[in-house]
Amino acid sequence: MTDTAVLFENLHPVADAPLIAAGMAVERHASALEPAELHKALGNARLAGIRSRTKMTAAAFDAAPRLLALGCFCIGTNQVDLDAAASHGVPVFNGPFGNTRSVAELTLASVIMLMRGIPMRSSAARRGEWLKSATNSHEVRGKKLGIVGYGNIGSQLSVLASGLGLHVYFYDVEPKLAHGNARSVASLEDLLELADVVTLHVPSLPSTRNMMDTAAIARMKPGSILINQARGDLVDIDALAAALESGHLLGAAVDVFPKEPASKDEAFVTPLQKFENVILTPHIGGSTLEAQEAIGDDVAAKLARFVTHGATKGAVNVPELDPGPIKPGRVRLLSFHGNAPGYLSRLNDAVSAAGANIAAQYLETRGELGYVAADLEGALPGDFLDRVKAMDGTLRARLIEV
Ligand code: NAI
Repeated sequence: MTDTAVLFENLHPVADAPLIAAGMAVERHASALEPAELHKALGNARLAGIRSRTKMTAAAFDAAPRLLALGCFCIGTNQVDLDAAASHGVPVFNGPFGNTRSVAELTLASVIMLMRGIPMRSSAARRGEWLKSATNSHEVRGKKLGIVGYGNIGSQLSVLASGLGLHVYFYDVEPKLAHGNARSVASLEDLLELADVVTLHVPSLPSTRNMMDTAAIARMKPGSILINQARGDLVDIDALAAALESGHLLGAAVDVFPKEPASKDEAFVTPLQKFENVILTPHIGGSTLEAQEAIGDDVAAKLARFVTHGATKGAVNVPELDPGPIKPGRVRLLSFHGNAPGYLSRLNDAVSAAGANIAAQYLETRGELGYVAADLEGALPGDFLDRVKAMDGTLRARLIEV
């Protein structure tokens, strides 16, 4: 039977090559499918690729008995029942970093536009008003950019901003190596008090929710700018609106909101709509063709590595293991199993009973799931894989022969 990777939602064509190299035929669907059609399309799939609109429920995994792995060619995995996937021994991969550069570029562009008062002047020009003045217009050179969260995006932004002559300061809860001349500050409060522009690049966590509330915004310098292109619950929008209303803040750029429309048919409403010195964008910080290509490359490569040597590095729902390429003369046994004492010794007994030798072995666990890769030498009996599958605790097992 042909091994097929079924790709939905018009994924970037760059995804095909690694999948074909891993021995897959690629079947493409232009959009997301409704459950009945989706389940039919998954009936024979070895791999599946989706974006955010395909709902991978427990029923979808039940309908895909041959599915080895699922790739989410996007950042989020909320559209997938991750526990159901794990209980079928199906790793789920995503592409969390492919759009890093896209967000960093948008942030930098927002800094420049806001420091020049462009959104307001552009709106006025559309109405026929000619706001030709330098009032509140600044070069970014020599200004202080305060980055909250110096991870992938924050640090990339730091490099780009330094190139434009901004002085970069950052605050992160983890120790981070500063790029170029960027300087780490000891607390969020310190950062808020010194920066001309504060930009948020932290995840949504209980500790970051509403981190920019009335008190935090009040600490920002009068006439400064706030940018949130990270997550919608980091900023108290009413507090931001009040600070714009009072003139304490000169402007803002917001790409993410506490409540975002589910589709383009739903109206978008925020108290920030009335401010012309605010750049409002519909959660497109990471949405570029280049990001889609980078994500296509990244996720397809992860799926291919899982097919060819069982690597689960980057999976969001199963133990992460990267046993590397399989050496010549070896066969790799892969088993997802219940994380309970005794499984490994039973597995090793089964290998001994088959007359094979374990040349290398790798094990990782995550919650209730264990994942083992064992490289075996010596001829294996024809029913060896069936014996492993029948073992107490085995969830899903396969052999890779090179
Ligand atoms: P990352 O995980 O690489 O970096 C986040 C950094 O924030 C880490 O260094 C972490 O130590 C730090 N951090 C966590 N809690 C903190 C706190 N309380 N104070 C200061 N620092 C803290 O994440 P990445 O890839 O840089 O993404 C950053 C944000 O951007 C995420 O929220 C992500 O969801 C969002 N994002 C938004 C997109 C959009 O379309 N607007 C697209 C891509 C990412």
